[in-house]
Amino acid sequence: MTIADEPTIADEPILRVDGLTKEFRGPRRRGVRTTVRAVNEVSFEVRAGECLAIVGESGSGKSTLARSVLRLVEPDAGTVSFRGVDLLTLTPAQMRAERRHLQMIFQDPYASLHPRRTVSELIAEPWAVHKDVVARADREGRVKELLRQVGLPESFADDYPSRLSGGQRQRVAIARAIGVNPQLLILDEPVSALDVSIQAQIIKLLMTLREELRLAYLFISHDLALVRLVAEKVLVLYRGDVVEAGDTETIFSHPQHDYTRTLLAASPRLDGTATGEPDRSNPAPAGGVG
Ligand SMILES: Nc1ncnc2c1ncn2[C@@H]1O[C@H](COP(=O)(O)OP(=O)(O)O)[C@@H](O)[C@H]1O
Ligand SMILES: [Mg+2]
Repeated sequence: MTIADEPTIADEPILRVDGLTKEFRGPRRRGVRTTVRAVNEVSFEVRAGECLAIVGESGSGKSTLARSVLRLVEPDAGTVSFRGVDLLTLTPAQMRAERRHLQMIFQDPYASLHPRRTVSELIAEPWAVHKDVVARADREGRVKELLRQVGLPESFADDYPSRLSGGQRQRVAIARAIGVNPQLLILDEPVSALDVSIQAQIIKLLMTLREELRLAYLFISHDLALVRLVAEKVLVLYRGDVVEAGDTETIFSHPQHDYTRTLLAASPRLDGTATGEPDRSNPAPAGGVG
């Protein structure tokens, strides 16, 4: 279903985040409660079909940012406009309905899939909320189609997640997410919990699906080699602040901020020989990714 002669990237942003801020209560110091500003006035846009990477060391606020966009945590300030809808003003029911269009993939496919549900139940579960996505009579066939799409045999439909490997579970999580026909996937370190040999396969799948389904990605990762391969734009977070943002190749070739340079220097696979130049015309990951 790839539409070759239409541009992948439309002009209008589908997600526009402005001044997003989230504080947590921190540890007590000398009897005084501190606060941690996990996300500090962060702004960015994602266009239809675009991949924006959020990078930063552990604790820089990446997950809190992702969760705030979906209101899995409630941000303290800012706006999140998705397809022109101000998400932060929605009621819980309206927010649940809107999640059909923006889905999240978590790092840990062991924690994100209910162990007592079969693969087909897990994939079909969101259709109980989003009732108009697939007609009841078509659900069994659609589950099989989704399994094929994520590279799993149809015979997995009746298995429980405990029978599957980490990579297979992440494929189920992806099938479940794309099963509601979203426009944006928020991927929070989607391959970090997987064996290195499996990572490349899942990344390849994500890149193929993005093109086939014309999905936009908010791709969170601390793996800069991976980011360079998959993302058109990068936003660098440091202690909740955006320290740098721009086109991937510009950021990688001319990092402006010291922190970005430190991140790049710390990335073992960016020494030029290990990853080589990414080739966007060929979405298969180079050896450096897995
Ligand atoms: N639920 C929470 N309660 C208190 N502090 C939190 C909570 N979640 C995250 N934090 C703090 O917010 C900061 C950013 O965390 P996080 O968003 O998980 O970063 P990252 O995903 O980049 O590793 C860290 O200092 C973390 O300790
Ligand atoms: Mg995180």
